Amino acid sequence: MSQPTIESILHEERLFQPAADFSQQAQIKSLEQYQQLYDKAKADPQAFWAELAATELHWFQKWDTVLDWQPPFAKWFVNGKINISYNCLDRHLTTWRRNKAALIWEGEPGDSRTLTYAQLHREVCQFANVLKQLGVKKGDRVGIYMPMIPEAAIAMLACARIGAVHSVVFGGFSAEALRDRLMDVQAKLVVTADGGWRKDAIVPLKEQVDKALANNSAPAVANVLVVRRTEQTIAMEPGRDHWWHDLQAGVSADCPAEPMDSEDMLFVLYTSGSTGKPKGVVHTTGGYNLYTHMTTKWIFDLKDTDVYWCTADVGWITGHSYIVYGPLSNGATSVMYEGAPRASNPGCTWDMIEKYGVNIFYTAPTAIRAFIKMGEHLPNARNLDSLRLLGTVGEPINPEAWMWYHRIIGKERCPIVDTWWQTETGGIMITPLPGAVPTKPGSATLPFPGILAEIVDLEGDPVPPNEGGYLAVRHPWPGMMRTVYGDPDRFRRTYWEHIPPKDGAYLYFAGDGARRDEDGYFWVMGRVDDVINVAGHRLGTMEIESALVSHPFVAEAAVVGKPDDLKGEEIVAFVTLENNITASDQLKNELKKHVVQEIGAIARPGEIKFAEALPKTRSGKIMRRLLRSLAAGEEISGDTSTLEDRSVLEKLREG
Ligand code: WTA
Repeated sequence: MSQPTIESILHEERLFQPAADFSQQAQIKSLEQYQQLYDKAKADPQAFWAELAATELHWFQKWDTVLDWQPPFAKWFVNGKINISYNCLDRHLTTWRRNKAALIWEGEPGDSRTLTYAQLHREVCQFANVLKQLGVKKGDRVGIYMPMIPEAAIAMLACARIGAVHSVVFGGFSAEALRDRLMDVQAKLVVTADGGWRKDAIVPLKEQVDKALANNSAPAVANVLVVRRTEQTIAMEPGRDHWWHDLQAGVSADCPAEPMDSEDMLFVLYTSGSTGKPKGVVHTTGGYNLYTHMTTKWIFDLKDTDVYWCTADVGWITGHSYIVYGPLSNGATSVMYEGAPRASNPGCTWDMIEKYGVNIFYTAPTAIRAFIKMGEHLPNARNLDSLRLLGTVGEPINPEAWMWYHRIIGKERCPIVDTWWQTETGGIMITPLPGAVPTKPGSATLPFPGILAEIVDLEGDPVPPNEGGYLAVRHPWPGMMRTVYGDPDRFRRTYWEHIPPKDGAYLYFAGDGARRDEDGYFWVMGRVDDVINVAGHRLGTMEIESALVSHPFVAEAAVVGKPDDLKGEEIVAFVTLENNITASDQLKNELKKHVVQEIGAIARPGEIKFAEALPKTRSGKIMRRLLRSLAAGEEISGDTSTLEDRSVLEKLREG
């Protein structure tokens, strides 16, 4: 059970046709229908998206231009007025969905809550009024650092309702990482909780917020709103900190959705790139709403009777697009679970599916590999008959894990949608449409209609079938990121000029290596930059290196990914120490702890290797390729002639 290798996927020839009964009831029923949609969208993308925008969403005012494309800056539905909270809530209230479950939530201790559309609307309106009372205005940024509880979604929707820009920071990030993000986005207010439950322990969220804000380090933050969740004692700073329930009590539930410009900022979400600082990915309102709406509808083949469960955390893009905005815009029932499989309850995932009758289940390959390891007796002991569609996201899925998912969870009956996309793309880009596209284990198959995905070389020239190249997208799409917060130049350089534009034609560079087979199916191999994917979490090697060198004993650090059966990749750090510092196991542990403190537990190195020196080129660049081979225990192959000092390599090899 390892990551897909060129060999394993080149020999992958199994093809799974969608079951006839699934196709008959599906939104998109056949390969021909998919092909027609794809061709139509390709021939005239603007007309394609405009038609869907007009029929699928509510607009306060119609746009006058579908797309204004000043490469690499796109504006969709120019001058249209729209509010995504209105599309996710208000418009369902005048239909029978008013009393349909919008969110079904369960906490790790087993407490649960269901919010109908009417109830969710009420809570969102009240909380939006709380934000207004605290002086939050259209365009202001609000930090959200929360456990997986309904209030996380309520806070996001409340921001969207009044035009405030949310910036959710994953609750597993450390105080340091939180501070960096709050500072970069200049958050005016932070929404958090006393704590959250994670694997039978309390994550002390409020304490981390206090640390992040200590010494007035994010001076724009005037207020902190705290949800009572775990009920341990926490410090409350008078004037700054308020209990959510205190402020919400008695507040009016009347708060009309603010008509937003289609291109008004909806949220900023930080993600790792190949340079040091995480970048704030900016998404705007109208295009994002349409794109998440359509992808949810067609890819998850949503029916009004479905119970849909995505296991992501709202702190990641998957949680934004496919727990909150996409499902709610479609009027779906979205399940939210605070917990994760843990020693005291390894089968909780299957209990959730049985208990709530989940029909559509969307998770990550790393979770599937963990399920396999925990044993099929766990799912086999539950009734999973309600399932009709399965999905994966976040990393390449190895064919073995795909087959296990297909057999043990899907009972060879449920189609699997392997969905390739990124924080930057806003929504799913390459995926099977489950009633239409035959699947191959390990392939994300074909692009979504309207997505002109290609495999090219670094000049932007197409690469022949079955040859490796870079995954790129040719035409803007409504859900694409608009810019890097505060750094449009970085946006241009990172994504649109990595492959130099030719004759005014710009290609979006995804940072992934991939190939297309003779059927046009995409096989994504993984990142080609210094981003590693650990258990589906995206981390920049530079971030981890910066964390390591911020320790006083560390002189230099180089971080690489090493293939790992469970997590996909594992972090290996090569570290040189300052003079007079002695290497020890104790120091290794201290450095691991230090990284956890600087970034969060998701970035804890699996291995630290002390070295006398790091392999560098004559111009001083660390040769990561060599370190990757060393970490993986492979023979060093390829050219080493640019190495400045060959003895460094020998010493590293001797360990
Ligand atoms: C990887 C997560 C292969 C890829 C939605 C991408 C995948 C990065 C897949 C984005 C998939 C995501 N197959 N690789 N189905 N889905 N990836 O921004 O390397 O957290 O560039 O967005 O995850 O990670 P991000």
